[in-house]
Amino acid sequence: MKIPFGKPILSDRDFKDVVKVLKSGVLVHGRKNNEFENLFRSYTNSKHAISVSSCTAGLFLLYYVLGIKKNDEVIVSSQTHAATALSFCALGAKPVFVDSEKNSGNIDVSKIEKHITKKTKAISIVHYLGFAAEIEKISKIAKKHNLFLIEDCALALGTTVNKKHVGLFGDAGVFSFYPIKHITTAEGGMIITKNSNLAKKLILAKSLGVNKQFADRKIPGIYDVVYPGLNLRMNEISSVLGLNQLKKFDSFKKIREKNYKKYLKIFSKKKEFETVKNYKKNEDWSYYAFPLILNKSSKIERNKLVNHLKKKNIGTSVYYPHPLPRLSYFKKKYKINLGNFLNAKKFSDQTIMLPIGPHINEKKIFHITKEIFSFIRKNK
Ligand SMILES: Cc1ncc(COP(=O)(O)O)c(C=O)c1O
Repeated sequence: MKIPFGKPILSDRDFKDVVKVLKSGVLVHGRKNNEFENLFRSYTNSKHAISVSSCTAGLFLLYYVLGIKKNDEVIVSSQTHAATALSFCALGAKPVFVDSEKNSGNIDVSKIEKHITKKTKAISIVHYLGFAAEIEKISKIAKKHNLFLIEDCALALGTTVNKKHVGLFGDAGVFSFYPIKHITTAEGGMIITKNSNLAKKLILAKSLGVNKQFADRKIPGIYDVVYPGLNLRMNEISSVLGLNQLKKFDSFKKIREKNYKKYLKIFSKKKEFETVKNYKKNEDWSYYAFPLILNKSSKIERNKLVNHLKKKNIGTSVYYPHPLPRLSYFKKKYKINLGNFLNAKKFSDQTIMLPIGPHINEKKIFHITKEIFSFIRKNK
């Protein structure tokens, strides 16, 4: 039995619709893109949804239009994907890393304010594994200090706090549709925002700053450029996939929740493991993966367990292999004291993510957990 960590769930309908788009000859600037953006807007209950070519592209575009530049400082979660920080580092801004909370991978709110200086322009947070960060508190801090707040929602499709979708607490939120995410468009991303001015700039900036979108051009081929934009658009093939996938997302999410609860029942009784404890009462979670934290006292080596499962054809993942300050680029450039990131380090070094997507069922969970327990018995 081969069990991948993540698997795009594509149906015959998806294959047919992709071929239909290809046969139509309209591969960009088409209707499917508008339909996907509209559906995403209504799903998240946001004012604007702007599709982009990836989550990284969307984050970069945001910092670009917000005017983040060389020598600005951006406060950022340390336990996240490199894209959360690289997207503003590419504009010359400096990352100011903040450690995680002890029991969750999310940014420690109590440590944010002491990092704010005259050069700070924005706070950039991730909802780690889709678990909501303390976003209401963070939003208050951002407002108090007049800072932009950007939410990296790459793994947070379906995460709400008091029924409000994450991504809507700050200036904007960005989602990823990479193949192993909750829904996929192959590569792709979506920005949501309630700010119409920002949305206007983003639409210009993602599409070469042209004044008239393709469908609005009265004379074909005639347009003007009014903004220094790039090409970071989503194409029609990705859009039709996104549209179909989003329609099925609620059913995908139910399976994820069911699988998560099965693992939780099994592992909560085992002393070798902890589970992530940042699931709040007012939160509905995206159920991205099952994060298993190996207790240090158990002496189980995480990488050995990962390799054992790999040999048994069981796919797992690590989110993320290093706290950002430990990545060579940041470490060398900013001479960072790694002793300040001990909570983030625990998540990088002691966790293993188990698959819970719609390709997983009870039988597979039984198989995966059986292999984990057999490894533990042999390595005690
Ligand atoms: C938190 C986070 N942000 C950003 C990204 C990058 O997303 P994309 O590949 O769509 O650019 C990822 C990818 O896994 C991620 O986990």
